Amino acid sequence: MTMEHKVERKLFDEVMVPCYNPMPMIPDHGKGSRIWDQEGREYIDFAGGIAVSCLGHCHPVMVDALTEQAQKLWHLSNIMTNAPALRLAKRLTELSFADRVFYANSGAEANEAALKLARRWAKEEHGEHKSEIIAFTKGFHGRTFFTVTVGGQPAYSDGFGPKPGDVTHLPYNDIAALADHISDRTCAVMMEPLQGEGGIVPPEPGFLQAVRELCDKHNALLVFDEVQTGNGRTGTFYAYQESGVEPDILATAKSLGGGIPIGAMLTTDALAAHMKPGVHGSTYGGNPLACAVAEAVVNEVTKPDVLAGVIEREQWFRDGLEAINDKYGIFSEVRGKGLLLGAALNQDWEGRARDILVAAGEEGLLVLVAGPNVVRFTPSLVITKADIEEGMARLERAIAKVVAG
Ligand SMILES: Cc1ncc(COP(=O)(O)O)c(C=O)c1O
Repeated sequence: MTMEHKVERKLFDEVMVPCYNPMPMIPDHGKGSRIWDQEGREYIDFAGGIAVSCLGHCHPVMVDALTEQAQKLWHLSNIMTNAPALRLAKRLTELSFADRVFYANSGAEANEAALKLARRWAKEEHGEHKSEIIAFTKGFHGRTFFTVTVGGQPAYSDGFGPKPGDVTHLPYNDIAALADHISDRTCAVMMEPLQGEGGIVPPEPGFLQAVRELCDKHNALLVFDEVQTGNGRTGTFYAYQESGVEPDILATAKSLGGGIPIGAMLTTDALAAHMKPGVHGSTYGGNPLACAVAEAVVNEVTKPDVLAGVIEREQWFRDGLEAINDKYGIFSEVRGKGLLLGAALNQDWEGRARDILVAAGEEGLLVLVAGPNVVRFTPSLVITKADIEEGMARLERAIAKVVAG
């Protein structure tokens, strides 16, 4: 990289709103599951842009789709439709319970649309009184004011004045608490079918089924936030498909675009009918550039060998983490599904997940955390065995450093 293009990390502190604290290194380019920084130092990517880069960096099918569409049409707005948007929507309906698609640009916006649709449906079908949204402690649904209020970490929604109302939080995996609380006033239950940001918490057997039954009993909608779990990450296209429990509304984003910003809300014909012209919208939603890339990503991810490969790679990750744990004894368990995995630290190492993340960075490995006690892995769904092995060797060196103090 030429000197004139280089930037220094301290520029971030001078010109950026300080709501992030990025790593000291500045990436320059990536290929597959490797990234190189401005100095040419190479990193293995077990973070995948927080469950976004499902085909790794600069996968040829994405580059081809992007460059082809870039020569044709970038943007129209929703006063016109376009072929990539309609082809992708058709594909998403074929691949899921849904009949209809609304495009957004992020996970938060897809969830915002889901919440607004649920409220609109309840008001029009049942009346003003049916407005309660039930969600779960430690759930995460995005940072718009409605979605962050529905999310189950009050620290993220406190401090901005009056919050959107009639939102109740209950403990995840506690079916008795839900059965006790839900009523005919409940408009919708919003949940992740496997909690991501909250610490990689899978649903206990029967939990999703029980939530569905209670929603049906009280005429409430079930909204699955599959922003992190969707698009092959857990080994099926959507995580709900393994459970057999269908939602009424589903939010997807992150890996849908493989790196290009796009989100979508999927729903049924009957519910979609409540979103009449003017009820909701987005200037960029359904942007042809984003939809063309997402279509290519979806076509690649849904190849049977890619989905089967997720489960194979989950095992390689679990084997690698287990081998490290046999030596250093710092994890209490490895949990999650497919390539949405969390290594939970045991009592002796409580609160040290960030130290491991920092040490991994120094060893040339990118990982994530999910709260203070969980090291999180959301790599590319097509990461090679060699990259996993090399990444595990670097993780072991990082953990050895942390353990040695
Ligand atoms: C389950 C879930 N929902 C919503 C979001 C928000 O997505 P975005 O950051 O694209 O708005 C996230 C992001 O981490 C997420 O994990």
